[in-house]
Amino acid sequence: MANLLAVEIAGLKLSNPTMLAAGILGMSSSTMRLVAESGAGAIVTKSLGLKSRRGYSNPTVVQVEGGLLNAMGLPNPGIKYFTQEIRNMHDIGIPLIVSIYAFTPNEFAAVAKEAAKAGADGLELNVSCPHAEKTGAEIGQNPRLVEEATAEVKGRVEKPVFVKLTPNVANIAEVAKAAERAGADAVTAINTIKAMAINVETARPILGNMVGGLSGAAIRPIALRCVYEIYKAVKIPIVGCGGVNTWKDAVEFLEAGASAVQIGTAIAINGLNVFRKITEGISIFLERKRLGSVKEIVGSSHRS
Ligand code: DHB
Repeated sequence: MANLLAVEIAGLKLSNPTMLAAGILGMSSSTMRLVAESGAGAIVTKSLGLKSRRGYSNPTVVQVEGGLLNAMGLPNPGIKYFTQEIRNMHDIGIPLIVSIYAFTPNEFAAVAKEAAKAGADGLELNVSCPHAEKTGAEIGQNPRLVEEATAEVKGRVEKPVFVKLTPNVANIAEVAKAAERAGADAVTAINTIKAMAINVETARPILGNMVGGLSGAAIRPIALRCVYEIYKAVKIPIVGCGGVNTWKDAVEFLEAGASAVQIGTAIAINGLNVFRKITEGISIFLERKRLGSVKEIVGSSHRS
């Protein structure tokens, strides 16, 4: 029987439309194996840079109403070291997308090249971390800088490129269009929303970095609106991300125009069985609606 849930995005074949979001469990091949065994359709790693980084001092994560607030500070061992983890994943059986950050277009291409050489199936450009200096959203808030970074990677690496967008802009569709112009194969929407929490007794910001990024159910309607706006503006596929926790959330994103969804905070809160619960829920929904493929609902909320 044909797999109702199979999707193809940017040339990558996924057995179902769920993906591990960047930054959660994607730092070692052992945790990524668990994610694959839990039924994810694809995996995105933690963001890797050219050099190792320690990240910010604690606290780096705080639970708030409706989600998590985090500012880790892009801690990572550097792409050279991480290539061993990528090699360890060669038999994983699902697409492995390496998230990368950099400070210049040239550096983006250098990190992308290392990841590709080690066996990454795709790359996700992090131009959306909401609190890093000279990288992340400082690039992603400027369509011209997004275009330059994307074009450089596309010109030098023959792998599908996903560009992960920040919602901390006035017009996210303009940024998505810049990525598309530069040859991006897909966009991921959205990264976290710049936010903070204060300890009222000490009158001090809780996070070591003072401000961080909000994820989880609290941001889902914002993420959904972003996907909806981007779908109207570009032809490349969109991967929805932001507060997906149930099959209904996933279907909402698909109907808004996403071809797949990424899941992060829901794993931190409810565990890894979220992938199977969501894919089973989507399957039952499709059968109830007598639809032959998940592709039939992608963007369906736009059709009159
Ligand atoms: C971090 C946070 C992000 O939202 C992101 O996109 C990348 C890195 C971090 O704090 O490490």
